[in-house]
Amino acid sequence: MKKKLISVLLAGCMTAALLAGCGGAAPAAEAAAPAAEEATEEAAPAAEEAAPAEEAAAEEAPAAADEGGLIKVGFAQVGHESDWRTASTKSCQDVFSEANGYDLSFVDCDNDEAAQKEAVRSFIEQGVDYIIIDPIIATGWDTVLTECDDAGIPVIVIDRTIDDSDKYVSWVGSDFLTEGKAAAEWLKAYADAQGIKEINALIIQGTIGSSAQIGRTDGFNEIAKREGWTVLDQQTGDFTEAGGQEVMESFCKSYEGKFNVVVCENDNEAFGAMTAMDNAGVSYGPGNDVILISYDACTAGLEDVKAGKITADFECNPLAAPTVEGVLQTLQSGGTPEKEILVPDNWYALADQIVDFSVDGNPQSMIEVTDEVIEAQY
Ligand code: AHR
Repeated sequence: MKKKLISVLLAGCMTAALLAGCGGAAPAAEAAAPAAEEATEEAAPAAEEAAPAEEAAAEEAPAAADEGGLIKVGFAQVGHESDWRTASTKSCQDVFSEANGYDLSFVDCDNDEAAQKEAVRSFIEQGVDYIIIDPIIATGWDTVLTECDDAGIPVIVIDRTIDDSDKYVSWVGSDFLTEGKAAAEWLKAYADAQGIKEINALIIQGTIGSSAQIGRTDGFNEIAKREGWTVLDQQTGDFTEAGGQEVMESFCKSYEGKFNVVVCENDNEAFGAMTAMDNAGVSYGPGNDVILISYDACTAGLEDVKAGKITADFECNPLAAPTVEGVLQTLQSGGTPEKEILVPDNWYALADQIVDFSVDGNPQSMIEVTDEVIEAQY
């Protein structure tokens, strides 16, 4: 454990000892509770470790990380490219609020890799207690993570993964490869049920090099290869509506009449792709020319499932912040959190598009999209 963390813990323990003994009481411990409900079995150990802190918080004053009693957290967010991102940002800001005992420095990195590294370095200069990073792309992180390590500041990675360095405490996020495989396995089962013999797919990818893009593209293509489907083309729409529209406009011209499946690697790209297909006179959704698959399953995405536009939507849960807080509180109380904590995802469609399928031999279930389901989504 690094010097700075030790001194933070000692300071917290000494203060708390005066009041109620060295318990490392947890501010916002209630906020960790949804994490315990939302997390998968892999997440359970961390959630369990957070539980004693929750109980302690009911009786004790929160542990103070600085003189103002707030724990300083820096969060280098990807940007604001999608509905999913908006939900993720809101969740983090809600959890790491002053009312919950945190002083949050939030930086929207606007999808700029250099700006994201700069943000992390500015957190080091500010002397924050913890750094949270949602890495725009998966590589190029070892140098800056070494700087965090040298400064004794624990890093927690949220959502997208870092693939070329292990100098972080924990990663909390979704399994993108499984999302990609799930979309393709659903397509296989649905096409079989509909008597569709040939699949000619177009993929609008997310930001190239992001783990969300890599996992979804690889997962879908693995099954496509196994099934002998044709993937006519794949290009990035950068996870944005404008990007999705631009790519789909070009696809509609280049592959006119040749495709029957469009895979958008997030809902916002799907919104743009639908505009492009509307303009090109291409029909999509259940019973129409094109099967439209999307990822994220945010409120607006599910509304389009309900409206018969998106055929199936594969969730990426943006509400990982409570679980991240559980990790942070485990560290606060001197524990060792799990290195990888998965946030569970659900798969959504209308009743007639729900079919049985498995991923890697594991049977999957789907949720029927209703007004109540949409209402409860983010
Ligand atoms: O990293 C998660 C992905 O990034 C979401 O699918 C997408 O909407 C976001 O921009």
